[in-house]
Amino acid sequence: MALAQNTAATAPRHVQMLIDGEWTDSAGGGVIVVENPGNRRPIASVPRGGAEDVDRAVKAAAKAFESWSRVVPRERGRMLQKIADAVEARVEELARIIAEETGNAIRTQARPEAKGAADIFRYFGGLASELKGETIPLGEHVLSYTRREPIGVVGAIVPWNAPVLLAALKIAPALCAGNTLVLKAAEDAPLGVLWLATVCQEHLPKGVLNVLTGYGEEAGAALSNHPGIRKLSFTGSTEVGKLIMRAASERIVPVSLELGGKSPSIVYPDANEDWVVDGIIAAMRFTRQSQSCTAGSRLFLHADIFDDFLRRLAEKTSKLKIGDPLDESTDVGAIINEKQFRKVCGYVEEGLNLPGSKLVLGGLPPKEGPLAQGYYAMPTIFANASNDWRLAREEIFGPVLVAIRWTDEEEAIRMANDTHYGLAAYVWTRDIGRALRTAHRIEAGWVQINQGLGQTPGHSYGGVKQSGIGREFSLEGMLDSFTQRKNVTINLNTPPPSSS
Ligand code: NAI
Ligand code: MG
Repeated sequence: MALAQNTAATAPRHVQMLIDGEWTDSAGGGVIVVENPGNRRPIASVPRGGAEDVDRAVKAAAKAFESWSRVVPRERGRMLQKIADAVEARVEELARIIAEETGNAIRTQARPEAKGAADIFRYFGGLASELKGETIPLGEHVLSYTRREPIGVVGAIVPWNAPVLLAALKIAPALCAGNTLVLKAAEDAPLGVLWLATVCQEHLPKGVLNVLTGYGEEAGAALSNHPGIRKLSFTGSTEVGKLIMRAASERIVPVSLELGGKSPSIVYPDANEDWVVDGIIAAMRFTRQSQSCTAGSRLFLHADIFDDFLRRLAEKTSKLKIGDPLDESTDVGAIINEKQFRKVCGYVEEGLNLPGSKLVLGGLPPKEGPLAQGYYAMPTIFANASNDWRLAREEIFGPVLVAIRWTDEEEAIRMANDTHYGLAAYVWTRDIGRALRTAHRIEAGWVQINQGLGQTPGHSYGGVKQSGIGREFSLEGMLDSFTQRKNVTINLNTPPPSSS
């Protein structure tokens, strides 16, 4: 077993990947070093998986599918429930691993993520008996019914921003429905996912779950193009989502994509209150450095409250404590890696130089002192923004919020929808009729009114437009994304056997 998953930030350890129930290195022998973004120290190495490893894993999953797909669903569900119990019993260990490798603060992010992963296994574990089909009323002479059959080997690729939660969201529904899985972890955050794989493997037959580590262009591309894959499920950038869809189109493989966002928050003039300020901070996901696909990163503030609301928002946001992800008092941790950190700084610099922009909070990170030891970005707010700015159009995936003034509701809704994304949205007002009318007109997969919370199991979550296709987070999501319907039609009026 590969579980050299010590949780202390000591010497780098080597953690292997999981193929066919065995812990293994890559065929090519290369490794990827994983670093703690809070202090830039290496914490572990993992195999640099490639095409050969993908091929082995897909073959193992195809072999395991023969029996796993025939296990009574209730039994599969029971195994998922046991995984939920096992994760729950060791939440603290997992939380530390997540905080250390992602830079997400342990109290505000990593611990809730670890608990959330257990919840997802418990939720889907309870749904196994819901893989029901239908009967079609074609008349008394015929019986026509559908079966919800598993698709086969699922190829799944996850990103680093909530790695364990997102891996759980692929593993639990895919396996519950009777599929087997080859999952590729993100190169920046594979350790929590490998930890989860270890726990899963204690309760699953070999080959049902295979977890690979490796770069996107190598292991990821090989997985999405492997002929043995019958379904592709991807969470990450829209750019890579397009590559996955292209690979799927070559073989007519069904695909689910959970991609980026540039989600609007529309604040009405009656909502100039502290609880709304707290809600905007939550919706913007400042406490996970805004590395969230659902970040409410375009703030449409009514002109009547614009300055006052921003003053309150800046004041509250400035109280967030930025620092060591493993410190319990930290609210905001570090950006995942140097590339993303530079990208975020680039947007901040651009905002500082834009004519007409006004910096309300934050700015470029300090070049000296403790925060310069890691990839710490400052929660940053620009006022007087235009919806046409690059800062208002592109997914920054960092703590840079743009505030845009509005007076006419039609104009606010038009601007909110003027984006190629459509993942989440937030509406803030005490006038519920107005809130619902606006919610119904916003082009997004998920609109929240007067709250800025995260997803919960059972909620069919996903995007419209270039934010993705498909839903995976609910019973319906599992049925639609991880099963295929087969229709069986039987003639009940077969003639009696002839006597000749
Ligand atoms: P990415 O989309 O490149 O990476 C996500 C996953 O896809 C990783 O496991 C990666 O190894 C894999 N991947 C990369 N290239 C691939 C390829 N050619 N074939 C198959 N798999 C591949 O995201 P990245 O580069 O880490 O971040 C860049 C930007 O993407 C971020 O700034 C953010 O805007 C967006 N992003 C959005 C996420 C979301 O949940 N909406 C999550 C992660 C990134
Ligand atoms: Mg990339």
